[in-house]
Amino acid sequence: MTYLSQPNAASQGPGVPQPARRVALGLLVAGAVAAPLALNANPSADELEATGGPTTVWANGKNAFSFPAANLTDEERTRFVIGNSFFKRNWVQAPASTKVRDGLGPHFISRSCGGCHVLDGRGQPPEFKKGLVDHDPPTEMLIRLSVPGTPHPHDGVVPEPTYGDQFNNAAVEGVKPEGDVVIRHTPVHGRFADGTRYTLQQPHYGFKNLGYGPMAANVMLSPRVAPQLMGIGLIEAIPEAEVQANAKTQATMAGPIKGVAARVWDAPSQQMMLGRFGWKAGAATIAHQSAGAFRGDIGITSPWAPEEACTSAQADCLAAPRGGHGDEHEIDLKTLEDVVFYQAVLAPAARRKPTDPQVLKGQALFAQAQCAVCHRPSYTTGQPPLAAKFPRLSSPALLGHTIYPYTDLLLHDMGLALADHRPDGMASGTQWKTPPLWGIGLLKDVNGHTRLLHDGRANGVLEAVLWHGGEAEEARQRVLKMSKAERAALVKFVESL
Ligand code: HEC
Ligand code: HEC
Repeated sequence: MTYLSQPNAASQGPGVPQPARRVALGLLVAGAVAAPLALNANPSADELEATGGPTTVWANGKNAFSFPAANLTDEERTRFVIGNSFFKRNWVQAPASTKVRDGLGPHFISRSCGGCHVLDGRGQPPEFKKGLVDHDPPTEMLIRLSVPGTPHPHDGVVPEPTYGDQFNNAAVEGVKPEGDVVIRHTPVHGRFADGTRYTLQQPHYGFKNLGYGPMAANVMLSPRVAPQLMGIGLIEAIPEAEVQANAKTQATMAGPIKGVAARVWDAPSQQMMLGRFGWKAGAATIAHQSAGAFRGDIGITSPWAPEEACTSAQADCLAAPRGGHGDEHEIDLKTLEDVVFYQAVLAPAARRKPTDPQVLKGQALFAQAQCAVCHRPSYTTGQPPLAAKFPRLSSPALLGHTIYPYTDLLLHDMGLALADHRPDGMASGTQWKTPPLWGIGLLKDVNGHTRLLHDGRANGVLEAVLWHGGEAEEARQRVLKMSKAERAALVKFVESL
């Protein structure tokens, strides 16, 4: 079986799926499509744990997000391995002896996709050394830039004139980096109804050592950590009609929750589509997001993002040598498709202990506190939006399954405390897309941290909820009124997803 020898197959690591019977579903059914789980009134533990039907793997440990869907064919598993290698390996400065992996930069943040999406998981803000003041340069997050104005509809924002639409704190030899990021915090104090006090840390972002002179005085910043990629091919296969139905249902409900479906430009298919990916739903497809990341985060041009991200004010960046074989793109379409395919078939990990009494209590509280209105539990998957035009980007193995991602994929006003005050496409400066909650309980295993929300400001599930405001203010108020045991149950439920 090819799978067990793959570089990131967890067979050698702590992520060995367990117990044995479930290994059969997660690992040993190479090539075969696992039988669909029958629906019945008394679902078994396996059924409750299978977050993505027969695509699910039973895995924990640091490789929990790195398995291919359990029901792929052998041929698909081979493509998964190829895509994985281009996702994880470092790109190098051009000209280099290796033409398939040169072209890094000129400006960049990371040398590989895996540098931010560590182990296909989630990035975090830099470690702070003393008193939340000294920190290393951030390496697993990025800061988007723009200025007010009317953007080109394909861009969503007007880029900052000198630094572009993203701050790149690294550069190849001979080119100036854009500068250094500075993060500061101020405490936000609060109290639960039972008198228990809490303190959150509100981050503030700035720059120093700017490489190309001052930024526009009216620049707007949006800091964002890299989200985990678990199950994103299934998210892409949620029927658009279901997301529109979420918006319709919320519009007719009493109360402040009124989610909006984003529409964004998709470069691969050259049309406007439903936005699903990124913290503001700025990308419709994994393909579009990946081409943008190759260009914007690593400096690798592709057929879907052909221009280097140098502004006209950055002469050294514009003059730096290009990578590849001298043709126009640093990554070719076929390789890019393999990287997209790899991500699309990353398996959802099974839930842990869904029938634990405390988890079941938390599940009831999750519904009572209105969390499930935005974090909608389940869908049945259909065809992903690019399936007809680019069949190599996805797999039929993802279709027709009941999945449990816990998102409505809509934009919500989350209040001023979470606002970045930087409109992006249809998303305003206070709106964020409801992120899926599946896999959240495994972040600690995979990435060794529990930093949540768009910029990683929350430490754990409860802090994430305490930052909720705007349309989710009532949900936050309900959590403030919960007893200590109820809060613990709510957290335990979310961590079981
Ligand atoms: C500098 C860190 C960084 C690097 C390097 C990086 N990403 Fe990301 N990635 C992010 C951030 C931040 C987001 C959220 C973007 C947003 O909100 O618009 C993201 C989002 C994504 C998403 C959407 C996930 C979701 O569920 O919303 C995909 C897919 C993705 N990246 C793929 C890639 C690929 C492929 C590469 C390599 C070519 C890559 N990324 C490199 C930081 C990074
Ligand atoms: C109005 C819609 C809405 C409601 C109601 C809501 N959320 Fe959220 N939730 C969001 C959005 C949007 C974000 C992302 C905010 C950000 O990153 O700044 C989020 C983020 C989170 C996160 C962090 C996810 C991550 O990937 O970092 C958790 C955990 C969470 N919510 C749990 C809950 C719980 C528990 C409740 C109920 C008490 C709840 N939410 C109610 C919309 C909502």
